[in-house]
This record gives sequence, structure tokens and C-alpha cells, in this order.
Amino acid sequence: MLTAFFLEATFLGVMLFGWNRVGRKLHFVATLAVAIGTTISAFWILSANSWMQTPTGYAIDPDTGKFYATDWMQVVFNPSFPSRFVHMLLAAYITTAAVVLAASAWQLLRNRGSEPGRWQMRMAALTLALVMPVQIWAGHWSGEVAHHYQPAKIASVEGWCETKEVQATVLVAWPDKSDCGLFAIEVPGTSPYLFASVPEGEALKGLDAFAKDELPPLWITFWSFRIMVGAGLALLGLGLAGLFLWWRGTLDKPGIYHWAAVPGGALGFVAVITGWVVAEVGRQPYTVYGVLRTADSVSPVSAAQVATSLLVFMIVYAIIFTAGIVYMARIATRGFGPDDDPHAGESKRASGSPMAAVEEPAEMPEDIVAAGKGA
Ligand code: HEM
Repeated sequence: MLTAFFLEATFLGVMLFGWNRVGRKLHFVATLAVAIGTTISAFWILSANSWMQTPTGYAIDPDTGKFYATDWMQVVFNPSFPSRFVHMLLAAYITTAAVVLAASAWQLLRNRGSEPGRWQMRMAALTLALVMPVQIWAGHWSGEVAHHYQPAKIASVEGWCETKEVQATVLVAWPDKSDCGLFAIEVPGTSPYLFASVPEGEALKGLDAFAKDELPPLWITFWSFRIMVGAGLALLGLGLAGLFLWWRGTLDKPGIYHWAAVPGGALGFVAVITGWVVAEVGRQPYTVYGVLRTADSVSPVSAAQVATSLLVFMIVYAIIFTAGIVYMARIATRGFGPDDDPHAGESKRASGSPMAAVEEPAEMPEDIVAAGKGA
């Protein structure tokens, strides 16, 4: 974990600020190191989180009540880890592609288009069109695993009120705890196609199969899932529409597609956040699923201490996030090469400062520009 952190932290600076300062090869190696570092981080974070969802390879000390590992391989490679790791990595690629697409579309709309920028847009649309279908498969895999180990989560996600052999796909509904299925639009009889791993004749547990204190908050789980899937489908639409326009030769002409792609840059974040809400709210009322309840995991810390640390976190994050977002938005909207900004190239800050790197227009190496023109 520490190795991954140092890899990311060290090379992120070179990646962000080094475009015009280091050679192309070093910049590429730095970018690769950041990608490898973040993948290793994701591995360990996802492994730890997945263990709390599907704990294996542990025992509980009868005297202290503490968990200890009996088999580290089972702890690390617990049952929900593979599907989650794949789903999360793909989510990161999709989110990145959506941001790149939005930035390229914005550059084009603001007359900052360039040949490398146009290739950036094509690559982003292609990535969305290719990776999103794989993500739907990975999401389905995650759903099958969750159904096996956390059936109450899936009953809430799907909005299944009653236990039945064949369940419907509920598209939209106004689920209510006291009267499940208050209003619903659904496609009946679809569960055998969606949950193929369930043996024939076996009933699919609905919310009525669980004690009330074993169920996650229904409304949040149900709607977060639909927002995640909806955002994913919209991103698939953006990818496919981009490919279609590319094929027609009109992707480089600013239009409705580009206006849609700009806000579409937020959709990956929306899907990731709502995805995590599904996973984490969906595992309630447990911290360690089936073993340790959230109510029993509360540390003996006073409300005032919690409020103070929360406030400090909020202030620090607000500063770091704002600076990060402003910086990245500048990089993303600036485009490649000379643009229509009268201040482009006039660095108002000391040339050694990180912001100065943004104000210098990024020059694409000439051979790349030439390759783009030739294509
Ligand atoms: C479109 C079809 C999709 C399906 C069927 C799907 C399915 C699921 C399911 C069932 C879970 C809960 C897993 C669990 O709690 O064990 C989940 C979680 C999650 N989803 Fe999706 N998802 C889809 C699209 C997306 C997209 C487009 C993104 C992001 C770009 C995304 C990001 C996430 C994240 C970050 C989580 C939490 C991590 C995890 O538990 O794997 N999902 N998804």
C-alpha cells in the first residue's frame, strides 16, 4: 500500500507539471507509474472493503472479541473481491474517458480545437463504446456475487417485495418500507435471464424473507442502483453516438453532441458515487457482513470529538478539492497549442509555481501533431 502511495505521489507531480519540462519518454514513464500505483492502491482498498462485505479466512478471539486472520490468502482474495476489483477499475477508466470527452468537446465548442484534441475526443468516445459493455457484464457479475452472499442487498436493489421463483425487473418504483411496491413499472418474468446461477425451482428471496432489522435502507439502495445504471447507459450512448459521428465524419464539427458531452463528463463520478452507495448502504445493518453490526462498531468517542474532526476534514478537503478542481479544469479546458486566450503564454505567476505550468499552452510534440494530420 505504501509502495503504491509513493509511486503515485512521486510521479503524479511529473505527470501533471512536467509536460513541457521533462522529455516525452520520462513523461510517459511517469504516467505509467501513476497508473500502476493507483491500480495497486485500488487492489488493496478493494480487498479490504470486500472482506468487510464477504469475510473469509478469519477467526474471533473469544477473550478479546477481536478478529484475527487465519488464512491471509482467503482474507485478501475473499469471494467478492475479484468482481469488485474489475468493476471498480473499469469504473475508473470510464470516468476518465467521460472527462476527456467532455474536455475535448469543450475545447472544440470554444474554438480551441486542435488535431491532437480531436484525436483525444475520438479515443475517449471509442473507450466509452468499448469499455461500457464490459462494465455492464462486470456489474452483472457483481450483482450475482452479491445475490449469493448478501441476498437482502439484492432484494432491496431490485425492489423485490415477495419471495418468488421468478421475479420481475423493476424499472422504476416508489418503494416504501411499510408498503413495498407502492408504485412500480416492471418487466415481469426476467429473473431467470438475469440471475442465471440460481438453480431452477429455487425461490428468489424478496424483502419479506428477512427480519426488518436485517434489511438495508430500501429507498437509498433502490434508487442509487438505478442512477448508477442510468448514468452508465447514458455514457454508453455518448460513446456509440461519438463513434457514429466519427464514422460520418462530423465528430469534429461542434454541435448538439458536444453540448451533451460537456455535462456528460460528470456522469462517471455520478455512477461511481451511487455505486458505492449501493455497496455500502446495501450492506447495512452490518459493518462486517453477518458478523459485526454497525451499531456495535461505534467507537467510544464523544460527539464533540467527532464533530471537530469532521469539521477539520471538511475544511481541509474543501481547500484541497477546490484547488485541485480549478487546476485540472484549467488543464482540461486549455487545449493544445495556441488558442484564443489573449493571456495564453503570459505567465502571471513565478515560472516555478505549479499554476505557471497551466498557463503555458501545452505544445504537442510535432511528430504527434504530424501523425494526427496524416490520419
Ligand atoms: C450499467 C450496468 C451496471 C450494473 C449492472 C452495475 C452493478 C453493480 C452492482 C450490483 C453493484 C453492487 C456490488 C456489491 O455491493 O457487491 C455495483 C457497485 C458499484 N458500481 Fe456498478 N453497475 C453498473 C454500472 C456502473 C458504472 C457505469 C459505474 C461507474 C462508471 C459503476 C460503478 C460502481 C462502483 C464504484 C460500485 C461500488 C464498488 C463495488 O462494489 O464494486 N457501475 N454495481
